[in-house]
Amino acid sequence: MSIKTVLLTIVQYVCIWRNRVFTLLFGFTIYTCIYLFLIGHLNIFRYNSNQSLALILLYTHNHSIKTRDNICRGIRNGGHIVHFDRCPKKCEFSCRIEDFKERSPSAILFFAEDFYWSFHLSNQNRTSFKQRWIFWSWEAPIHHPKYTKSHLTFNWTMTYRQDSDIVHSYGRYIFRNLSYTIRDYQSNDYYLSSHNNQSTFNTRKEFSFRKNRILWFVSNCNTRTKRNEIAENLKKYFHIDQYGKCSNLTIKDNFEQLLFNYKFYLAFENAYCRDYITEKAFYNSLAHGSIPIVLGPNEENYKNILPPNSFIHIDQFKNLKNLADRLDHVSNNIDIFSFYHQWRIDYRLLTWKSNYFIDDRFCDLCIKLHDDLTPKSYLNFSRWLNQCI
Ligand SMILES: *[C@@H]1O[C@H](CO)[C@@H](O)[C@H](O)[C@H]1NC(C)=O
Ligand SMILES: *[C@@H]1O[C@H](CO)[C@@H](O)[C@H](O)[C@H]1NC(C)=O
Ligand SMILES: *[C@@H]1O[C@H](CO)[C@@H](O)[C@H](O)[C@H]1NC(C)=O
Ligand SMILES: *[C@@H]1O[C@H](CO)[C@@H](O)[C@H](O)[C@H]1NC(C)=O
Ligand SMILES: *[C@@H]1O[C@H](CO)[C@@H](O)[C@H](O)[C@H]1NC(C)=O
Ligand SMILES: *[C@@H]1O[C@H](CO)[C@@H](O)[C@H](O)[C@H]1NC(C)=O
Ligand SMILES: *[C@@H]1O[C@H](CO)[C@@H](O)[C@H](O)[C@H]1NC(C)=O
Repeated sequence: MSIKTVLLTIVQYVCIWRNRVFTLLFGFTIYTCIYLFLIGHLNIFRYNSNQSLALILLYTHNHSIKTRDNICRGIRNGGHIVHFDRCPKKCEFSCRIEDFKERSPSAILFFAEDFYWSFHLSNQNRTSFKQRWIFWSWEAPIHHPKYTKSHLTFNWTMTYRQDSDIVHSYGRYIFRNLSYTIRDYQSNDYYLSSHNNQSTFNTRKEFSFRKNRILWFVSNCNTRTKRNEIAENLKKYFHIDQYGKCSNLTIKDNFEQLLFNYKFYLAFENAYCRDYITEKAFYNSLAHGSIPIVLGPNEENYKNILPPNSFIHIDQFKNLKNLADRLDHVSNNIDIFSFYHQWRIDYRLLTWKSNYFIDDRFCDLCIKLHDDLTPKSYLNFSRWLNQCI
């Protein structure tokens, strides 16, 4: 208040004074005053925004390809690193570990891929009271046992879990009538009409065009895992086109194109953890217009995360024969088929092809860094994280 008020008072005073003395001589005095007034405002604005630039440091040595190439150099994303241009708050992203000591960042991110390294840090190394140490991962903990052995105390989490401080999930859905603030150019929607924002999914056309089959893409050939065993058994009752390392079918067209050709997609997760619903369901299936057949957390959990009536959960059936019967009905009856696509009318899906750089999520983090000053720490992090069966 003070700087601004003082400045404005001075400008006003000068204006009145100049007006009285010079009005007759200089008719443009009033414009000079407006100019001075605006300059005063702009300077104040700039001053404030510089003050509130928050530095977000990814604490990494760039040893893993995922961190080095995908996150710090953005190679997989055409050089796209995190941008805050369209974010209402100002932040900067860095992978320069020297910034830890040189610039005392507002947030330190510890990324999943980097946990093979112990970071050589403890709470004593925090460079400010306000600094947030953040656990960042979109993978299930069972594939990364080192997470939970970490001796670091985190203030915030940024994961697929819905109760994370910053939710970094594989997708979500929103009402179509909302004016969406998509800050990420990587968000894609194949069934969005640019004309009126409605769904372009044509139920009749899709029903007749798509194969009455399940598309399954799998790279882990171990048939003893629960998911592969179920899929193998399901093959006895319903046609599955299996692609990947352990299949005779090779992808002639591109993978993306294939996803548009099936009524069903087998979206079995490789870990059964609370909220762990990945791009298999969001991107590979729903975004491409198929119905995901899901296995992962329980049905309630899926209901909370995927659009209403958009999926078929294994647990809904007594056995695989019953499931196959249902798939037959969906394949042969357009009304049942429509039931699973009804959500497209009211909602739209926000999902990302790649989960690596998400300006929107980083903007959430940026806003929270500015607005949420409540102290917080995860005292038993492994208990919080390990909610898998
Ligand atoms: C990691 O890579 C980024 C981008 O190439 C670079 O700016 C940064 O200094 C690197 N960090 C370390 C610790 O080498
Ligand atoms: C953290 O603090 C310890 C003990 O004070 C010190 O030896 C170590 O170098 C510090 N680590 C970093 C990365 O600054
Ligand atoms: C959007 O539609 C839903 C359901 O039809 C309604 O509850 C909600 O209030 C609407 N929102 C806006 C911003 O119109
Ligand atoms: C579509 O949605 C965007 C984002 O909310 C909005 O800016 C635009 O005006 C909408 N277009 C139409 C035709 O409704
Ligand atoms: C692949 O082809 C061989 C020989 O034609 C056949 O025996 C085998 O069952 C096939 N495997 C799969 C996964 O379809
Ligand atoms: C972050 O966690 C540490 C360790 O528990 C705690 O000392 C510190 O006050 C927390 N900081 C914030 C800003 O929450
Ligand atoms: C954290 O929670 C786990 C699981 O509930 C428990 O076994 C462990 O003893 C707890 N650790 C601490 C330090 O309280």
